[in-house]
Amino acid sequence: MKRGDRVVLRDQGGRRYLVEAGAKAERIQGLAFFDPAKLVGMAWGAKLEHATKTLTVLPASTMDLLATLKRKAQIVLPKDAARILLECDVRAGSLVVEAGVGSAALTLALARAAQPGGRVVTYELREDFADWGRANLAAAGLAEVVDVRVADVRAGIAERGVDAVVLDMPDPWEAVPPAWDALRPGGHFAAYSPLVSQVEQTTRALAKQGFADLRSLELIEREWVVGERGSRPSHEMLGHTGYLTFARKV
Ligand SMILES: C[S@@+](CC[C@H](N)C(=O)[O-])C[C@H]1O[C@@H](n2cnc3c(N)ncnc32)[C@H](O)[C@@H]1O
Repeated sequence: MKRGDRVVLRDQGGRRYLVEAGAKAERIQGLAFFDPAKLVGMAWGAKLEHATKTLTVLPASTMDLLATLKRKAQIVLPKDAARILLECDVRAGSLVVEAGVGSAALTLALARAAQPGGRVVTYELREDFADWGRANLAAAGLAEVVDVRVADVRAGIAERGVDAVVLDMPDPWEAVPPAWDALRPGGHFAAYSPLVSQVEQTTRALAKQGFADLRSLELIEREWVVGERGSRPSHEMLGHTGYLTFARKV
């Protein structure tokens, strides 16, 4: 492990703590005082005794970064973020425009998938969310590849030749014309909306604009408890997150 690596420490209970190897010692909730300098030179997968905990030291994956993110607004969860990445074909070198940043969970997934060489420009109405999102992205080591811009995406998108426009905001249909102007031919549009009425309005706007390949879907996830004596679905289930609407510019 070298200085600057993003490291996740997993305790016996499966809790995750994100630290940067070699960074200044600090108080971390759940770990009390921790000095990340001692991580430099350790092997991945090593065990570290700290206070009453045995911590396993691992390179922070995208899931670790999402799980340790400091939340302020409702975030897009991994099941939905993963589908957005595939539907929008986000890969190394992609240029993605997003709105709004919120806690930057979706931004983080987009930015990681676009590396190396890609970039995310995220439009955010509120200065406080922009600052919050920037802090989360910096903690994940993604500050250099994401431009968090305080602006209303409905008023226009400055970028051109964009590979994907991804919206998580209350009125995505209002951003359909700017998305059309920004996208390259064949580029992808995605909207995440908690309400069916939002899906309907967005779909009408997409059709009117001339987008093709319009689709909306909902993903249901059920976690399982796997035990020695048998396995079953978890008693708790996430009832609803949001609907996904996709389209392509032709
Ligand atoms: C639910 S949050 C986004 C959460 C984010 N996708 C995540 O996973 O952490 C919605 C964000 O969109 C922002 N927003 C709403 N309307 C907007 C607009 N017209 N332009 C830019 N940002 C907007 C809000 O301020 C808020 O921060």
